[in-house]
Amino acid sequence: MSDIRNPESCREHPGEKRAGFERRFRAAGIAWPEYCARWLAAERCGGKRREALARKIESGEPLAYALGHVPFRELDLGIDRRALIPRPETEELAGLALEALRGMPGPPERRRVVDVGTGSGCVALSLAHEFPGPAYVATDASSAALELARENAVRNGLDPGPEWRETDLLAGIEGAFDLVVSNPPYVTTAEWEALEPSVRKYEPAAALRAGADGLDLIRRLLPAAHAVLGSGGVLLMEIGAGQADAVRGLLRAAGFGRIDVIRDRAGKDRFARAHKT
Ligand SMILES: C[S@@+](CC[C@H](N)C(=O)[O-])C[C@H]1O[C@@H](n2cnc3c(N)ncnc32)[C@H](O)[C@@H]1O
Repeated sequence: MSDIRNPESCREHPGEKRAGFERRFRAAGIAWPEYCARWLAAERCGGKRREALARKIESGEPLAYALGHVPFRELDLGIDRRALIPRPETEELAGLALEALRGMPGPPERRRVVDVGTGSGCVALSLAHEFPGPAYVATDASSAALELARENAVRNGLDPGPEWRETDLLAGIEGAFDLVVSNPPYVTTAEWEALEPSVRKYEPAAALRAGADGLDLIRRLLPAAHAVLGSGGVLLMEIGAGQADAVRGLLRAAGFGRIDVIRDRAGKDRFARAHKT
């Protein structure tokens, strides 16, 4: 499958058309004009639809929302303003979750996994696709996001897929789980204000914002995750690049042990892994 974040993997398209889109996007001040132009040129659609998409992108709508789909690991996910556009780092989070699951002894069918704040369903659906067997649960506070996640299960032939639960973090979810995985909102107030205008305008603020230090949700998630994990269970979480020390302290305070902070491909502290010892 071609990768929306790797324009080199796109099918080539007549150069003048692509160059024309690029000029238009550059003139409109769009971030990554060449990348957007390549993707638009590679989209399988007729000229009228391509022109309509070009106008949306020119107006500042994020590329994935304009196209209506985005690749995530081995899946092609429908995406719209009901949920955050899945980011490349989160593909790495799903990879770490797979590694943890594959390292657990015994049959996969005995495992229970919960994805907290599932959004488009990207993590839970990828795990269900790449590691079938466990009982998967996915929670979100947003009914609109869960509706999209359910659609993505059908779109990818994973229906009924995970058990979708509309709830606050893990409220009402009964353990014991082997793995809690989450990409919670972790953007600080200052980071939010500095984010690209298109993110602030189009993506759901509740999927990103987490108070002055970005830890509002993580502070509440950690004790709840500890409570639903079985002995030896693993928590894997995406975190903000400057949050490693604070998160280590919060994990210890919540009772976790064997804590690691793992860097993403860009070399930033991005994931926390901890065990219920
Ligand atoms: C950073 S997004 C992650 C979405 C998706 N997992 C991904 O990685 O693309 C955080 C998600 O948490 C959800 N969320 C925010 N507050 C929540 C809460 N209190 N309880 C459950 N989910 C929450 C948002 O609706 C959003 O879908």
